[in-house]
Amino acid sequence: MVRVVLENIEKSFGPVKTINNLSLEVGDKEFLTLLGPSGCGKTTTLRCIAGLESVDSGRIIIEQRVVNNIPPQERDIAMVFQNYALYPFMTVRDNITFPLRLHKAPKDKVERKLKEVAEMLHITGLLDRKPKQLSGGEQQRVAIGRALIRDPKLFLMDEPFSNLDATLRVQTRSEVKRLQRELGITTIFVTHDQAEAMALSDRIVVMSKGNLLQVGTPNQVYESPVNVLVAQFMGSPPMNVLDARLQKPDKVELRDGAGGLVLVREEAKRATSIDGNNVKVGFRPEDATFSVGASEGIPAEVYVEEPSGTHMLLTLKVGDRLVKVVMPAGFKAAIGAKGGISVAEGKLHIFDANSDLRIS
Ligand SMILES: Nc1ncnc2c1ncn2[C@@H]1O[C@H](COP(=O)(O)OP(=O)(O)OP(=O)(O)O)[C@@H](O)[C@H]1O
Ligand SMILES: [Mg+2]
Repeated sequence: MVRVVLENIEKSFGPVKTINNLSLEVGDKEFLTLLGPSGCGKTTTLRCIAGLESVDSGRIIIEQRVVNNIPPQERDIAMVFQNYALYPFMTVRDNITFPLRLHKAPKDKVERKLKEVAEMLHITGLLDRKPKQLSGGEQQRVAIGRALIRDPKLFLMDEPFSNLDATLRVQTRSEVKRLQRELGITTIFVTHDQAEAMALSDRIVVMSKGNLLQVGTPNQVYESPVNVLVAQFMGSPPMNVLDARLQKPDKVELRDGAGGLVLVREEAKRATSIDGNNVKVGFRPEDATFSVGASEGIPAEVYVEEPSGTHMLLTLKVGDRLVKVVMPAGFKAAIGAKGGISVAEGKLHIFDANSDLRIS
């Protein structure tokens, strides 16, 4: 059972607080992802867990042991960094077995573990090559092999796919997910790519400026973002957001672009805010549809169409605002064509205009 608990972690570099009162629990065998924009403190959090950085206050607990004062090499953690730094003059075999040889493990154990790890990562045929004779994805797998050969308690990965091209990224991430499931190693993964986080994680921790904004399963974070920032960070293209006013019991009045249009919505009924309050309404591009010539829905006109093969991404003008809607691949409409946008039942998100917090 390898659980990790962070209790009120604080970390500053000079006057700037990089991690602000961060508390979180990682379950045994869980794949947890720290997600957030550049500079939000993801790498710093990982380095604190690994012991490469000390915390100013708070406790880090691994397997019920407070590790604040335990040096990194005694924490039994494997870490794969963004630039995975293989030893260029060593073969793949020597790169992978390095951590075991360093600890003077018996030869037969080294051989056995090497065979196991190489088979698991499908690199058995590459063992005699040097890193520069490998593709990016192969190098990546060697770096993972080197991290795993010690049977670590905990696996930390910091943007491990950032050097890979788009195709290889998607391939390698499937491999990593399978491997993690197979080995059942508690894993903390860092990325700023929301799609990667969605695809891999049991739970996602969304961070911003050293603060934890939301923790939840990919679906929870995607379907019920706690605020506008999380709503727009999750999903690509991001959620559309329009200004509106709540008209209790069951209406929202769109402002700006949509020129006072009043929508009757179940979501407005549930909103925990009072009549007349300013709100923001959000909907995801894939939760809305546009009908040319329709007089119902949010009035809009076609601004531009972008086919992707699997669907048509439509950018529409709502007054002076642009919103995006995902349409089926065969959709066609002329630029300037007018119609209405309708948002699927239950798929309108309502946020308080002042705090940006979700209210329905
Ligand atoms: N050793 C350091 N000295 C001073 N400031 C630091 C140090 N390490 C990190 N920082 C600052 O702390 C903040 C968080 O950095 P961190 O590397 O944790 O961000 P990140 O979320 O990993 O970002 P990225 O996605 O760009 O890797 C940044 O503003 C960074 O400049
Ligand atoms: Mg980083």
